[in-house]
Amino acid sequence: MKRVFSGVQPTGNIHLGNYLGALKQFVELQDDHECIYCIVDEHAITVPQDPKALREHILDVAALYLAVGVDPKKSIVFVQSDVPGHAELGWVLTCQSYTGELSRMTQFKDKSKNKESAPTGLFTYPVLMAADILLYDTDIVPVGNDQKQHIELCRDIATRVNNKYKKTFVIPEGRYLKEGARIMALDDPTKKMSKSAENIHSRISLLDDPAKIKKSIMKATTDSDGVVKFDVENKPGISNLLNIYSVLSGISVEDLEAKYEGKGYGDFKKDLVEVTVEALAPIRSRYEEIRHSEELIEILKDGAQRADAIAQKTMARVKDHFGLGLGR
Ligand code: TYM
Repeated sequence: MKRVFSGVQPTGNIHLGNYLGALKQFVELQDDHECIYCIVDEHAITVPQDPKALREHILDVAALYLAVGVDPKKSIVFVQSDVPGHAELGWVLTCQSYTGELSRMTQFKDKSKNKESAPTGLFTYPVLMAADILLYDTDIVPVGNDQKQHIELCRDIATRVNNKYKKTFVIPEGRYLKEGARIMALDDPTKKMSKSAENIHSRISLLDDPAKIKKSIMKATTDSDGVVKFDVENKPGISNLLNIYSVLSGISVEDLEAKYEGKGYGDFKKDLVEVTVEALAPIRSRYEEIRHSEELIEILKDGAQRADAIAQKTMARVKDHFGLGLGR
């Protein structure tokens, strides 16, 4: 069985983009893959975090994993900082990466823009991400499009180590969905939907209630010609909504275009509200059931143990190939 690894940062506002780009894939893959899903709290501290809120968000994301359908009987679910191998391998890989390649990462450029100085962790963020993936001999990494550059860097670093030392790492592949890979902001379809945007109507959070979902969709930016047609370049707003509708309903974009031919955006949006509310309702109720349960903590503890067992084997191999430690 091929191995799958992915992670989500523990911040609030997990949204439809995270769900359709990544979490939905997590669930699809777990029946015929060995899946490991992580809550990457060490990545979260590359920007300032309130410690109390961070702890809460770790559990929020863990509960959301389960609420969307990740099954702890099939998949390993755990918190990154509970497995020391991530930080340990992160350092080893930091020594194998170049400042030049890290400077080219668009996410770093965006996050450090207009800042006089940025935390080093923000700069080496993609190296820690490479460590997450390589620690588990991962074959497949289900993510949204925005992570493509980081996955490519991970492959480069792994190949570099394999060529320089004994073959140490499996070279992973990113897995991106056709329609969900890049969900755009509802208020500005030229930007991706993000957890941190100020306007709450720019995104639909997975835990939004029906009234909020309705308001955000009905307010979503479209264009003035009123034709429901997929054309990202000229009609980015309606194209984004078509993507969302398609992934949530399982109806192809072409069939949706046919269904709404001759109808205006109003009808289309009303139906999209219904489809979205219906898709998110079971997630919200399952989340409420599990979020404050002892079961959630037990699942994360058990997951950390299982993940750590795999990680320790990889670290022993890495140390052996690099000549680190005493070797016994
Ligand atoms: P994060 O927490 O920002 O996002 C979690 C996942 O959601 C995807 N995503 C989107 N997909 C479609 N449309 C969007 N608008 C959208 N916004 C976010 C992201 O691509 C991601 O899959 N660096 C990662 C976390 C990470 C990781 C890893 C992922 C750390 N280590 C190892 C995979 C493997 C991140 O910041 O994701």
